[in-house]
Amino acid sequence: MNREKILKELEEEVKKCCKCDLYRSRTNPVFGMGNPYAKIMFVGEAPGYYEDLKGLPFVGQAGKLLDKLLEEIGLTREDIYIGNVIKCRPPGNRDPLPHEIEACKPYLLKQIEVIKPRIICTLGRFAFHLFVGKKVSITKYHGKLLKKEETYIYPLFHPAAALHRAPLLKPLKEDFLRIPQILEKVEKEVSRPEQFLLF
Ligand code: URA
Ligand code: SF4
Repeated sequence: MNREKILKELEEEVKKCCKCDLYRSRTNPVFGMGNPYAKIMFVGEAPGYYEDLKGLPFVGQAGKLLDKLLEEIGLTREDIYIGNVIKCRPPGNRDPLPHEIEACKPYLLKQIEVIKPRIICTLGRFAFHLFVGKKVSITKYHGKLLKKEETYIYPLFHPAAALHRAPLLKPLKEDFLRIPQILEKVEKEVSRPEQFLLF
């Protein structure tokens, strides 16, 4: 089965999912979108107001900033894949709860297994902590390339956080600007990650 087909089937599963209570308040689940053959995948936290209405990831203010950052490094949404840790909007945009993350995690892991990105850019602490555990600080590790098995994890601040806290915007931009060189190095397999974390 090709990647498109597997992802489509998984999306159908998500549309019917009621593994956690978030299905009750969602308008639409937000499965994710983009190139199933992308070398680079972005993982956010959870749908917000507009994402829930449209059923698409990063279509609100944070999405506009994300698009701008992508444009600055010559990428469009066709080059990448974007998903979230949580597929249904938490009411009032509250933080996702640990049991909701656990319930939804298999969908993201399956997306990663199918797409096989070389680099996963985590946006914000929820996506980062999903891969490295809760004790690791994003303030310390943002912009550092980490390796988990065959996949590189590149932690970034969340664009929504940078919209609310101006001092985060500069490091977010700087980390973004390094993406092309990181991707090039990783593709050539000549890079040595700056940090190895053992899981
Ligand atoms: N914030 C996220 O983490 N994900 C979205 O899809 C939109 C905003
Ligand atoms: Fe299912 Fe995830 Fe939605 Fe919960 S958030 S209902 S686990 S798709």
